[in-house]
Amino acid sequence: MRGLPHSALRITRASHVSRATLPSLTYTASRTFVTTTQRPAPAQSGRAPPNPPPSDIADAATAFLGTKKRLPEFSLTDKVVLVSGAARGLGLTQAEALLEAGATVYALDRLPELSPDFHTIASRAEKELGTSLYYRQVDVRDVVNLNKIVTDIAEKHGRLDGLIAAAGIQQETTALEYTAEDANRMFEINITGVFMTSQAAAKQMIRFGKGGSIVMIASMSGTVANRGLICPAYNASKAGVIQLARNLASEWGEYNIRVNTISPGYIITAMVEELFKKFPERREAWPKQNMLGRLSGPREYRGAGVFLISDASSFMTGSDLRMDGGHSAW
Ligand SMILES: NC(=O)c1ccc[n+]([C@@H]2O[C@H](COP(=O)([O-])OP(=O)(O)OC[C@H]3O[C@@H](n4cnc5c(N)ncnc54)[C@H](O)[C@@H]3O)[C@@H](O)[C@H]2O)c1
Repeated sequence: MRGLPHSALRITRASHVSRATLPSLTYTASRTFVTTTQRPAPAQSGRAPPNPPPSDIADAATAFLGTKKRLPEFSLTDKVVLVSGAARGLGLTQAEALLEAGATVYALDRLPELSPDFHTIASRAEKELGTSLYYRQVDVRDVVNLNKIVTDIAEKHGRLDGLIAAAGIQQETTALEYTAEDANRMFEINITGVFMTSQAAAKQMIRFGKGGSIVMIASMSGTVANRGLICPAYNASKAGVIQLARNLASEWGEYNIRVNTISPGYIITAMVEELFKKFPERREAWPKQNMLGRLSGPREYRGAGVFLISDASSFMTGSDLRMDGGHSAW
C-alpha cells in the first residue's frame, strides 16, 4: 500500500465549494434580501470545545466525540466499519469521519493505487486518533473475494459493526444510445455490488450476534430525473439502491441490523470539476436547481454517515436520508 504512485486518485476538498460564483439572494439580520456573488458552505467555528470535566478526563482518550456525557451515542469507539469505494472521493471522506468518531475502518476499493490523502488520513488515524485505517483491494463484482476479505476482517476483530457502501460508477449516455452491456455494468456495480457487499457484511454481523448498521450511498437521482444530466441507467440504479435498502431492512431487522440510504445532491468532486470543463454551462445551471443556490462538498455528508452508523440513529431503518439542498423538494 505504502509508496505507491499517486496519479490515479482524485481527492476533493470542501474548499471547492467556495468556487460557486452564482449571484444569489441572502437573507440578512436586518430582514432584507441582498444579492451576493457567492454563498459559502457553513463556516467552521473558531471556538474550541471546553475541556472535559475532571471526572471524564480518564475517558477522553477513548471517547472521540468528547466525553461519555457528551452525545455518547455518536461514539464509534471499538467498532469495526467497512467503507467501499473509499480509495478516494466521498467514500474516503466518510472513512475519515468514522475514524474521528473512534472506529477502526477498512477501505474496500478496486483501485491499485492510493492517493497521498489516503496515506495522510491513515497516518492521522494512528498518531492522532488512536485507531486505524486499512486498505483491501477488491472489485465488488468479485463476490468470492469480497466475502473472503469481509470474513477475514470480522474474524480478526471478532465483530463487524458497520458498512458504508459508496462504491459506484456514473455514465452519461442517452437512453436511445445506451447499450445493454453498459447498462448491465452500471447495474452490476451500483446495485448488485452494493447488494453483495451488504450481504457479505450482514452474514458476519449475524455470525457475531452484535447487530450492525449498513448505509448505502444512493443519490437524489434515485428519486428524480436530473434536468440536463442524461444518465438513465445511473438514475435507475440509485432508485434500485433506495428500494434495496428497504427490503434488506425488512429482512435483517430481526438481527438488529439497520439498513438506510443517504441520497446526496450534486457534490463537487474532481469528477464533477472535469464535467464542468466539458460542459461549462452546468457550473451556472446546477446551483440554480436547489434551494440553497450552491453545490455541496463531500464533507457535508460526514455527520450523516456517523449518525447512521452509530447508535444515534438506533431506531432508524429502511429510510432514505435525502441531502440535496432542497433540489428534489421543488
Ligand atoms: N459526486 C456526486 O455528485 C454524487 C452525488 C450523489 C451520489 N454520489 C455517489 O457517491 C458515491 C461516491 O461517488 P464519488 O463522487 O466519490 O465518485 P468516485 O468515482 O470518486 O468514487 C467512487 C469509488 O468507487 C470505486 N469503485 C467503482 N467501481 C468499483 C467496483 N466495481 N469495485 C470496487 N470499487 C469500485 C472507485 O474506484 C472509486 O474509488 C457513488 O456511489 C456515487 O454514485 C455521488
